[in-house]
Amino acid sequence: MAIKRKSSDLKKRMQNALKGGGSKAIEKQKAIGKLTARERIIAILDPKSFHEYDLFVEHAAKDFDMDKKQLPGDGVITGTGTLSGKPVCIYAQDFTVAGGSLGWMHAKKITKIMDHALKLKVPIIGINDSGGARIQEGVNSLAGYGEIFYRNTRASGVVPQLSIILGPCAGGAVYSPALTDFVFVVDKISKMFITGPEVIKTVLGEEISMEDLGGAKVHAEVTGNAHFYSESEEDCFSQIKQLISFIPWNNQKKAMSFPKKNPKSRQYNIETIMPTDPKQPYDVRAIIKAIVDDSEFLEVHERFAANIVVGYARLQGETVAFVANQPMVLAGVLDVDSSDKAGRFIRYCNAFSIPIITLVDLPGYLPGIDQEHAGVIRHGAKILYAYSEATVPKITVILRKAYGGGYIAMCSHHLRADFVFAWPTAEIAVMGPEGAANIIFRKEIVNAENPDEIRKQKIAEYKKKFANPYVAAAYGYIDGVIEPAETRKILLHAIDISANKTEITPFKKHGVPPF
Ligand code: HXC
Repeated sequence: MAIKRKSSDLKKRMQNALKGGGSKAIEKQKAIGKLTARERIIAILDPKSFHEYDLFVEHAAKDFDMDKKQLPGDGVITGTGTLSGKPVCIYAQDFTVAGGSLGWMHAKKITKIMDHALKLKVPIIGINDSGGARIQEGVNSLAGYGEIFYRNTRASGVVPQLSIILGPCAGGAVYSPALTDFVFVVDKISKMFITGPEVIKTVLGEEISMEDLGGAKVHAEVTGNAHFYSESEEDCFSQIKQLISFIPWNNQKKAMSFPKKNPKSRQYNIETIMPTDPKQPYDVRAIIKAIVDDSEFLEVHERFAANIVVGYARLQGETVAFVANQPMVLAGVLDVDSSDKAGRFIRYCNAFSIPIITLVDLPGYLPGIDQEHAGVIRHGAKILYAYSEATVPKITVILRKAYGGGYIAMCSHHLRADFVFAWPTAEIAVMGPEGAANIIFRKEIVNAENPDEIRKQKIAEYKKKFANPYVAAAYGYIDGVIEPAETRKILLHAIDISANKTEITPFKKHGVPPF
């Protein structure tokens, strides 16, 4: 009898807590295309796998009449569950409860589940939908954020950290997602900014809408804060599931293995993708898809710095990462943003032991006052650092141009690629034939009776001598000049034999990369 009474009391308490901020607040959330916090967790995880903790946590604030307010779960839902059958830790801020604002107990719930993730060595997924630091709780809410940032940093490179922005993420709150590995945004729902439009107007007199300041497109395309963009929450959850299928659960595990493919069943169409005119652009993603299992390629940071393409695919069922210049955008040059994008991606792959395949076709670093003043030296150094530091298997294929600093930076042997292959179309030189001929034959061209004719002649001469893979191959900087249709086979072998790669690195606490 006593158990029955206690059970019914528990049921009542649970029902009360599960109501969140109540039906009105939930309706408001739904009206703008948002799911509730619990619905989001359930939609992401495997069916019926979610276990919630700390449902009965209460806030401890007293000021500003807070002691008279009840905030179910203190505005955040935390727990564990599975994704593709494997464990994850997860939390979702509940905007219906005090705008998902972060008070001390709210932060304690988040840090507790983060501690679990680190101990259990499983990914942590955070769904952000919050007005930021709970103003009534003053320094305690700031302390809460500090505790979260500290844990984000401790967990970095140990377990994958995913941030899903499904509402406002304002003020210093943005720095937790910024410290994590992958940030997901949804059109018209996600808003991230340090200071909102009102503050900007007051302080600087500038006017801007919230969407134009920190909407999903802005972060996916301009700032690069977001790695994945989608049109709806549902699409965002599919992206999360796809990403999680490619990445290891922690830094000591391998990613999931998928069934091996029958290599004979594959059709290669690589030759038809590459234009016959070496000046014509092409979409390097088509080359990647022609190489990998089922042509499945998950692009990371698709909309940001599109002159470099990074993402995950599989070769014979095993995850590999691709870093590839994109000739379709700015001829695939390296610049400030593409160096940042690739540098961070390479470091993630190295931390989680994912082999890196680099496809090269670029004229070098982007020249210009804008780039120089934006710090292309400092930013461009990041990609050099990241490749040199990485000890995972590194395999490079030079498809066409590999000029100047671009040749070195895109994982050449000199940055310790394990294998470098080149297609017969590769051109490896200090610079393009036109530029080179104009410099080294300048006097002959200027003094010639017919300078244009001589220039053409000299360009052709230079091209014949240097614009090919054979000079580099003669020095052993290229391990093999290969037929494009053989690329998959050769990559598979290179990855296979690199399975037990070990590299001794000099003792250090940590390096000092050009942040
Ligand atoms: C306490 C908050 C809150 C906050 C929202 N609420 N933000 N309560 N602290 N930071 C409450 C509201 O009072 C309201 O409560 C409920 O949440 C819903 O908010 P609305 O304003 O009605 O919703 P909406 O119109 O959708 O606007 C959402 C919003 C707006 C854009 C997020 O609430 C807003 O601008 N909030 C403040 C954002 C901000 O400046 N945050 C930075 C804080 S400083 P009731 O009871 O009426 O339902 C910060 C520094 C952290 O974060 C530093 C860490 C290093």
